[in-house]
Amino acid sequence: MKNSTFPKNRRQFLIYMVAGTAGTVALGWLFPNLVKSQETELETLCSLFPYNSRCRNYLPGVQAIDNQGNPIDPPSLLAKAVPGIPVELEGLSKPTYLIITEKHQIAPYGIRPVCTHLGCTVDWKSERNRFVCPCHGSEYDAMGRVEKGPAKRPLPLVTVVVKQNQIRLVDRQPGVDPRGSRSSN
Ligand code: FES
Repeated sequence: MKNSTFPKNRRQFLIYMVAGTAGTVALGWLFPNLVKSQETELETLCSLFPYNSRCRNYLPGVQAIDNQGNPIDPPSLLAKAVPGIPVELEGLSKPTYLIITEKHQIAPYGIRPVCTHLGCTVDWKSERNRFVCPCHGSEYDAMGRVEKGPAKRPLPLVTVVVKQNQIRLVDRQPGVDPRGSRSSN
């Protein structure tokens, strides 16, 4: 009797074990993807309709930090910033430069110091009030617009959001450029 029931229970046990393992694996895959898709949905909603009630506490992108890794307090930054002089921040994979407007506000976009000629990292030269590329000498003004080639396009932008006393940096696709063309000096 024992011998006839044991294989049946063993088979069931194996079936449960395989089903349980498959279920755990499926949940392990499904749950992060579900959370990710909800995050993506919220991100899309809040980028299109930032004043939607669901977006009140939504913080887009990554928080800007200083070169010591400390979060940046917008009022303290503005107290030291000078309009027209870019302020270097960390947070994304490369440093980002905030633009301080004539009205002493943080512009809703920042500059990524990636040369549009062949991708070298440009340096801010405060004595010249320009970004200068160390590779082939392209120069850009304080807003990232080309002053001297071989680069032909302005430095790329990131979106900057100041919310809940944080500065958030959001990757941005190329599109309409809010900087306009450079005024001739
Ligand atoms: Fe900057 Fe060539 S990569 S000028």
